[in-house]
Amino acid sequence: MKKFFALLPALFASALFAGYKTDGAFDISTNGVSLIVSYTEDKTPHFEHFGKRVNPADFVGLRELSPSDVGSPSLLYPERGGKNFLCPALAVKHSDGDLNTELRLVSTKKSLSKDGNVETTVVELKDTKHQFFVNLIFDAYKKENVITERAEIINREDGEVVLQNFASSAATLRAGKYFLTHINGQWAHEGEVSEDELTRGTKSIQSRKLVRTTLSENPAFMLSLDTPRNEKIGEVVAGALAWSGNYELNFECDEFGRLNIISGIMPVNYALANGEKFETPKMVLTHSASGSGQASRNLHDWARNYGLYNGSARRPIILNCWEGVHFDVNEPVVREIIDDAADLGAELFVVDDGWFGSEKYPRNNEHAGLGDWTVNRAKLPDGIDPIASYAVSKGLKFGIWIEPEMVNPKSELAEKHPDWIVGAKGREKPQIRNQWLLDLSNPEVQDFVFGVFDSVMQSSKHISYIKWDANRHLEQIGSSHTPAGAQERFYIDYVRGLESVFNRIRAKYPDVIIQACGSGGGRIDYLSFKYCDEAWGSDNTSPAARLFIQYAESLFYPVKAIGAHVPKSGSRNLETTMKFRSDVSMMARFGIEMRPANLPPQERADLKRAVGVYKKIRDVVCDGDLYRLISPFESRTHAANLFVSKDKSRAVLFLFQYAFDSVYHRPFFRLDGLDPDAKYKISEINTSKPISPMRGKTVSGSFLMERGINLLFNGWNQSAVFELERVK
Ligand code: DGJ
Repeated sequence: MKKFFALLPALFASALFAGYKTDGAFDISTNGVSLIVSYTEDKTPHFEHFGKRVNPADFVGLRELSPSDVGSPSLLYPERGGKNFLCPALAVKHSDGDLNTELRLVSTKKSLSKDGNVETTVVELKDTKHQFFVNLIFDAYKKENVITERAEIINREDGEVVLQNFASSAATLRAGKYFLTHINGQWAHEGEVSEDELTRGTKSIQSRKLVRTTLSENPAFMLSLDTPRNEKIGEVVAGALAWSGNYELNFECDEFGRLNIISGIMPVNYALANGEKFETPKMVLTHSASGSGQASRNLHDWARNYGLYNGSARRPIILNCWEGVHFDVNEPVVREIIDDAADLGAELFVVDDGWFGSEKYPRNNEHAGLGDWTVNRAKLPDGIDPIASYAVSKGLKFGIWIEPEMVNPKSELAEKHPDWIVGAKGREKPQIRNQWLLDLSNPEVQDFVFGVFDSVMQSSKHISYIKWDANRHLEQIGSSHTPAGAQERFYIDYVRGLESVFNRIRAKYPDVIIQACGSGGGRIDYLSFKYCDEAWGSDNTSPAARLFIQYAESLFYPVKAIGAHVPKSGSRNLETTMKFRSDVSMMARFGIEMRPANLPPQERADLKRAVGVYKKIRDVVCDGDLYRLISPFESRTHAANLFVSKDKSRAVLFLFQYAFDSVYHRPFFRLDGLDPDAKYKISEINTSKPISPMRGKTVSGSFLMERGINLLFNGWNQSAVFELERVK
């Protein structure tokens, strides 16, 4: 008995320490961020750390104390099976019906890009029982402090396996509290910013809409550790999934106080034959030790250097006629708008919806014509080339709108190819905006969609820009191309079909600018941006609304990738001045959305001035560092953004009072990111009536950052823009 009591502490300790003990560790690191992987003696890989740079050697011989023998240690790619009871990154039904997988480390291979900035780590894993393999592929972008992760899942078993979960990445965070920020919304109300404290249990961000997912929920998140999100202080982990279809980002706060994040395509049953490989999309991750502002800047840098098509190129100033004429395009009107666009100083003109359709089904409204991509000769008698050439003769580039994935029931395409339309046999197909979706999992449809793009491009050698729209999402599923017993594959095969079309397009047309539009901001994600130069920010062009929407989109995406067009006056824009409207649009990829002939002369002059101003500040706005000084979501009355050039020699400051406020309330706009020791000359720009007493002054960067600019706005919907230039 005595002996038994003597043994008790040892028994207790072994139960407590029965978690795992690490035998080795390695890192995947950028200049400032480390992801640490450890492994035990039996080569089980564990996710130890994602955050500030640390030394992997410190993780060797470590005992994970908290999760004792009750299971679920923090695994690198948590699989269903073994001791894991948390949400799995990987769940497989093996060829013999076995539902368990236990991955062990086989090898780790590293390679470096030519310029030394990107280190790739391939972590090869194998199941303990089956010929079943997973490669996790990490790319560490040193300067940008971004790490991307994706998985290759390979079946070498004798028979078919069924994948049930197949995430792109898994991460375990260890903090006292977790605050989740994500952006969501609706058509014309994109970019609502939500922040929730995550407590015990699971929160999941997801979309089942397949197309234009990001109108309602963007596949990206920020996690602020210990304190709510702050632009300048605190630890933030941010992630964005590069996928334009159904997805799930799962946040599970476990009983040990850890947060387990699983990110990837929305799980469905997906069969893999022997020898087949499943490749997941990329998850883009970053960490900031100084607030969400730095997390965004990391993502912006990464996007401009790697994640956004032609990310370093200058974006042209666009005039799109959609809000000016809607479907009433015709040659005289188009020529008139081109003349005005040239006079205003725009650089590219876009003909939007309404230029096409068959004789039977002309596209005069949203009820008919979609799918019949022939020029409407009643509107453009000589086709596209004369108007494209006319634009070029006026010094403009030319662009045109298409929506090639969709079809109106009232179209010759729908009559000819009912089998190309998504929908279940024997059920009525629901319509959105009077249209159906084409089945892009079908290679014939892929050829058709590529053909639409190709034939439009071939219609004139002067086409430099395509606005690719998508005005419905998926509701009812049904693909006549997909086997009846495996219909859920369609959710994935549709996106793969779209990618295959884009790959063909980019092989043939590497230079054409493509805008991803999905009824506004429905296609803002890093898979779209792999192929598209930009996205349309929202169909809501009202400036006060755009302050919020553009703020939200800038959390994860660089402003040069977001189209923001100055709208005409009246209706939704209430009493806003041209200055206010153009100041808001200048904080992104600037453009104009109207028929300028309708503008009152003073507004036209103000718009022309804004175009000239944007040309001077465009490089700082598009390629500089963004500091969100005041969030409209927090202030109720004000908003402020600062863009600083990479060498800190120039900056552009945008200040807004968008709601009525007391004259006694004058916020101090404290700047950021400047060189504290340099002197900056301040000019108030884009106005003939400057309002700031600071204009013309030269002050130090430290003054601007410590004391800031104090300004009295009079009324509401007011704005002021400043250019700061370092004085030698
Ligand atoms: C929705 C887009 O967001 C608009 O900009 C416009 O292109 C219309 N579709 C055209 O139908």
